[in-house]
Amino acid sequence: MNTKVKIVDKENLDMGIVEEAGKVIKEGGLVAFPTETVYGLGANALNPDAVKKIFEAKGRPQDNPLIVHISDIEDIKELVVDVPKIAKKLMKKFWPGPMTIILPKSQVIPDITSASLPSIGIRMPSNIIARELIRTSKVPIAAPSANISGRPSPTDVERCIEDLNGKVDFILGGDMCEVGVESTIIDCTVNPACVLRPGGITLEALKEIDDSIYIDPAVMKKPDKNLRPKAPGMKYRHYAPKAPLKIVKGDLKKTIEKINEMVQNYIGENKVVGILATDETKDFYKNGLVISLGSRNNMISISKNLFETLRSFDDKNVDIIIAEAFDENGIGTAVMNRLNKSAGFDIIMV
Ligand code: TXA
Ligand code: MG
Repeated sequence: MNTKVKIVDKENLDMGIVEEAGKVIKEGGLVAFPTETVYGLGANALNPDAVKKIFEAKGRPQDNPLIVHISDIEDIKELVVDVPKIAKKLMKKFWPGPMTIILPKSQVIPDITSASLPSIGIRMPSNIIARELIRTSKVPIAAPSANISGRPSPTDVERCIEDLNGKVDFILGGDMCEVGVESTIIDCTVNPACVLRPGGITLEALKEIDDSIYIDPAVMKKPDKNLRPKAPGMKYRHYAPKAPLKIVKGDLKKTIEKINEMVQNYIGENKVVGILATDETKDFYKNGLVISLGSRNNMISISKNLFETLRSFDDKNVDIIIAEAFDENGIGTAVMNRLNKSAGFDIIMV
């Protein structure tokens, strides 16, 4: 398949290009596009044949439901059968933005979109390119992250091209995504509402709306038989760079010592080691390929750079990656959730 790639500037949006991409969606094709979280791979959510192509292009397991993206709050009416009070409050506060709400789905949603679940995740993105694409396509857009299944989500257009060139009809490029980790998913079909995936909207911010909101306990732990995450996608190994990744967690000084010791051992085995460091620590590593995610005082920059940095270690063909851990609060919860999963929960405590 010949993939058309066109880049737009959100400050000076070329509506001709956005409309061209919207037409591809309306006609049953696939379009990758930027959102404020990560790039998405979109198709008409109400057309089962179009949605099927998303699963094929990504190599995505069929039991993993898609999020449906809308451009206007009114669009939700035909997609769900009930909007509880808590969902209304959350939408009012956090939409448009990096939050997905799970609600009981209506008949118009095909089974393939919701992976046959009785519920559907809905999100209204704040990125203007995404919103205009949805608006001009005149249909709700089902869109998972625009990566090949299992890989870190793309946060810039080059990474979309890397994963999807030749597999999709159109790649609509914009800037690098601001949030860098996916939306917070909150299940409003249960009471109290429950966070199924931490993301761009923090638990602390959600609790300001309703203090009883909590995170699914299975989300921050290694999945096992007794503790299954409620979001089907959270059970898979995910966000994984090609090289194995290990996390060193604990006191920062001891973390640096431990990482330096591990690096020496790996170098002794002739391995190329990548170190996922921070501005505060990067100068303490004497060997290995050190990349800083940014300052620990600016967790937003850490989340923004996370997936891109994991992918850049792939470009450098490292044999192993060692990462520092972060505090699990604020956006740090989402960062550690993604990092833990990238590492397959290979965590060394110091
Ligand atoms: O920020 C985002 O949400 C991005 C951008 C493109 O909008 N999208 C995204 O989609 O991250 P995806 O498909 O990569 O992740 C969707 C997650 C999966 O873990 C899936 O299992 C879960 O949402 N999910 C979707 N519908 C669900 C439902 N009805 N109940 C429980 N989990 C659901
Ligand atoms: Mg994904």
